[in-house]
Amino acid sequence: MVSPVHLPNGKPKTVIVTGGAGGIGAQTIRAFYEKGCNVVIADLPFSKDAATQIISSFTDSGRALYCPSNIADWDNMRTLFREAKNKFGQVDIVVANAGMMESQNFFDFEEDEAGELLESRDSQRVLDVNLKGTLNSELNVTNIPLRLAMHSMKSNPLDSDGARGSIILTASTSGYFGGTGVLSYIATKHGVVGAARASQRKATELGVRVNVIAPFFTPTYITGGYSDEWKRRGLPANTVEDVANAVVSTSIDPVRKGHHVMVAGAFIKEIETPRTAMTKDWLGEDIAEIMIKGGQFFDDMGGYTMPKPRE
Ligand SMILES: NC(=O)c1ccc[n+]([C@@H]2O[C@H](COP(=O)([O-])OP(=O)(O)OC[C@H]3O[C@@H](n4cnc5c(N)ncnc54)[C@H](O)[C@@H]3O)[C@@H](O)[C@H]2O)c1
Repeated sequence: MVSPVHLPNGKPKTVIVTGGAGGIGAQTIRAFYEKGCNVVIADLPFSKDAATQIISSFTDSGRALYCPSNIADWDNMRTLFREAKNKFGQVDIVVANAGMMESQNFFDFEEDEAGELLESRDSQRVLDVNLKGTLNSELNVTNIPLRLAMHSMKSNPLDSDGARGSIILTASTSGYFGGTGVLSYIATKHGVVGAARASQRKATELGVRVNVIAPFFTPTYITGGYSDEWKRRGLPANTVEDVANAVVSTSIDPVRKGHHVMVAGAFIKEIETPRTAMTKDWLGEDIAEIMIKGGQFFDDMGGYTMPKPRE
């Protein structure tokens, strides 16, 4: 049987991990390297030392590449994909992991001298990185890696598992719940979940698998402000290894298509299939019927017929 981390020609698969120099991303890079993949660390320029340290810990540093990049910058991201392909030939797995938490409460009402409400730059940054930087669309929503990854993978030859590539979008339990009140972060993670759902038709057409990883609390930089107290209370927590291992196994499992894998302490659960199965209980038979008919309509039409842009 062909190894899921090797191409049919025996060469290692190549993985890009955005935010791959720190936290969950760094461990994901290590886990893919240990499996035998080529790994590409895409992270902000300040992360150079951390990335260099990770790569120098590898016995075969020729299987690793660091590309300083900001996922919210289109040119940076195009360069990243170009450099990865130049070095390794093709990109097989992309983990859109980079993300950030806001540093200022969305409802802190800062005013100018005239008492007018100031725009929240902090919120804008979170939207740019977590959503625009994950998707890249001209609509200013997630996923530069998602769009570039799909574009890059569509010309890969079919793998032995019948796919041309695999993409993992990193959401969060905050992609499904709003209890922590970090508004911009929660909104972007709901956006990532929506982007994953909206990608499935195209992903199937192109032979690319798009799945979501939704971690619960994991001690890293973004949870540093409260992680000691969390631990003191004995609350369940992931390790970065738990999340990284779930990313690796989800990305290489041919069964995973449109799945959302929640990683919560000791529990790793696929939550999208049960959500879909519960539609009638959730919406009621009447609305569920309407939704099914609407879905069939768009399937028949080959998607949404878009309006022309207004002048
Ligand atoms: N830690 C948790 O509890 C938790 C829970 C749910 C989801 N997540 C998600 O997991 C992902 C990884 O987060 P983490 O906990 O490892 O945080 P982290 O801060 O430790 O790591 C994030 C990494 O992303 C990089 N990064 C940030 N902005 C970037 C940009 N614009 N371009 C390129 N790289 C950028 C950072 O330099 C850093 O290396 C994020 O998407 C986060 O939202 C984390």
